Amino acid sequence: SRITLRQLLDHAAEHHYGVPAFSVTNMEQMLAVMAAADAVDAPVILQVGTKARAYAGDIMIEHLFEALIKMYPHVPLCIHQDHGNSEATCATALQRKFTSVMMDGSLQEDGKTASDFDYNVRVTASVSRFAHFMGASVEGEIGVLGKLENGRDERLLTDPDQAVAFVKATKVDALAIAMGTSHGAYKFSRKPDGEVLAMDRLEEIHRRLPDTHLVMHGSSSVPQELQDIMNKYGANIPQTWGVPIEEIQRGIRHGVRKVNIDTDNRMALIGQIRRVMQEDPGEFDIRNMMKPGMDAISKLCRQRLEEFNTAGQG
Ligand code: G3H
Ligand code: 13P
Ligand code: NA
Ligand code: ZN
Repeated sequence: SRITLRQLLDHAAEHHYGVPAFSVTNMEQMLAVMAAADAVDAPVILQVGTKARAYAGDIMIEHLFEALIKMYPHVPLCIHQDHGNSEATCATALQRKFTSVMMDGSLQEDGKTASDFDYNVRVTASVSRFAHFMGASVEGEIGVLGKLENGRDERLLTDPDQAVAFVKATKVDALAIAMGTSHGAYKFSRKPDGEVLAMDRLEEIHRRLPDTHLVMHGSSSVPQELQDIMNKYGANIPQTWGVPIEEIQRGIRHGVRKVNIDTDNRMALIGQIRRVMQEDPGEFDIRNMMKPGMDAISKLCRQRLEEFNTAGQG
């Protein structure tokens, strides 16, 4: 059944676990994630970005979620808008019965250009106000996600004073912070060794904002195995490294509660579609392409739910 982000992450904080937020666009990804959550008795967050809403259409997205809730009434499910670019995007997500919205006011409405702090506060506070009236939760973001591999560039990390001022002014339930991750497959061009995330910064923000749930975007681990499958079957993915699982686990120990994952599941699905197409060029039953991909997604999600100690918390 539906659960808000606030309810879910309050429980996660009390019981010291993290919750993966898996990005989804279509029925296959949704079914595969829910099968995994069900298999390990875990709550889960499914999140939909603006491109996903445009791709499937809001009516379809709304009813896919209705169907998931009927199929898995016992799985606590948070339905979340990922990187909302405007008040309108967040308001229309709530009309579709999302239980949580991210207002990403760190960017302007185009979703590309950096915004200023005052704009971010204004637009996020507005979303908080109407989302809370409707019983939904809100995630905000400050800072610029970016890589830290060439030594830490402190300017790219979320400033703790700003984080405190932002939360006070906006009343968000959860806050995405820049702590050394970036979106997509190409996070680190060398194998990360030791601490790659700014744990000291995370700890400080968590200490000063103990009631705000911290969110780590760009948390795919980009497993070697998935890169290898893609490349074996015709892709051309240059060697890359994602966020090591131990680093995410360390983050969870220091206040990270929501862990955003998109890239890993895209690679899991497409790797299997590539394999089937190459191994059996005569295949054109779409189900025989999608099913191995769904199984690969389920396997990855089960792993993450276990690694973040979400398993058993459903
Ligand atoms: O990494 C960012 C989001 O998962 C992208 O979602 O492509 O549906 O906007 P979207
Ligand atoms: P990845 O690209 O690391 O999967 O991050 C996804 C994300 O942060 C979605 O908001
Ligand atoms: Na940002
Ligand atoms: Zn993100």
